[in-house]
Amino acid sequence: MSFASAGSFDPRGPVASEIADLWWLMLALGTAVFALFLYLLIRGLMRSDDKEAETGSRWFLLGGGVVLPAVIVTVVFAFTIAAMRAIPTEASSDPIVIEITGHQWWWEIEYPDLGIRTANEFQIPLGREVELRLTSADVIHSFWLPSLGGKLDLLPDYTNTLILQADEPGDYGGMCAEFCGLQHANMAISARATTPDSFNQWVSGQQAPAVAPSDELTEQGLKVFLSRECADCHSIRGTPASGDEGPDLTHLASRYTLGAGVLDNNTENLADWISSPQDHKPGIDMEDVELTEAELEALVAYLETLE
Ligand code: CUA
Repeated sequence: MSFASAGSFDPRGPVASEIADLWWLMLALGTAVFALFLYLLIRGLMRSDDKEAETGSRWFLLGGGVVLPAVIVTVVFAFTIAAMRAIPTEASSDPIVIEITGHQWWWEIEYPDLGIRTANEFQIPLGREVELRLTSADVIHSFWLPSLGGKLDLLPDYTNTLILQADEPGDYGGMCAEFCGLQHANMAISARATTPDSFNQWVSGQQAPAVAPSDELTEQGLKVFLSRECADCHSIRGTPASGDEGPDLTHLASRYTLGAGVLDNNTENLADWISSPQDHKPGIDMEDVELTEAELEALVAYLETLE
């Protein structure tokens, strides 16, 4: 499963537009040079007598070998500088701050000002700048939502800042863009851009502690969660589970995928994931959890209530 994404050629925000424009300019210039080259190559192959060409060849070499490349490089340089200046390095006013920490192989996402902690999927309001503070808990990863902007590395012990804005609603997906180990290809991230109203609704949902178990089965499920290894690594706010090695599960059921995009989040996949994460994503920290069928059923039923 991968998140739907419009990609770099279909920019949905000001930063991505700057980058796309620059890319089209470079493609146009590259195509023109390639066409000229093909024309000259064919002309050269087809002529048999080259005595007349001798006199003009010096000017031809100067023009084609020095002047033309100099003009093209200068044009590209000027447009690149203009694009770089147009891409903000600091948020203009009152941005939403989001701290994103890369892990092998998932994304920890926190909104420090809003008290939200989640993983792999987050939301942003339309038309407002978001300030992404990117860092890593282990090796170098790279953040990239192609339809919203350029990519930026997540480095251990250092924080990079990326300013983005979405001007159209949608789910903007991306993948980790720096090789980071065995499951680099299974490290998806997605941002949903919504109206300020539905963003605020999502925020209040995420701020709330987890819903308490409401029946015997889900109560049993929470017991399983707390008594087994789950709680050593995962947090569920509102319960004693406060591990911080793995993704926060307080609102697990509000997420669309499991394992950073590896599986759709549904009953069957959740049970499958818990019992054999190593089959779905070999090499991750989570070990296969040995549970009886009844324990697994209760655990899944409980986790599915965590909207
Ligand atoms: Cu994380 Cu590649």
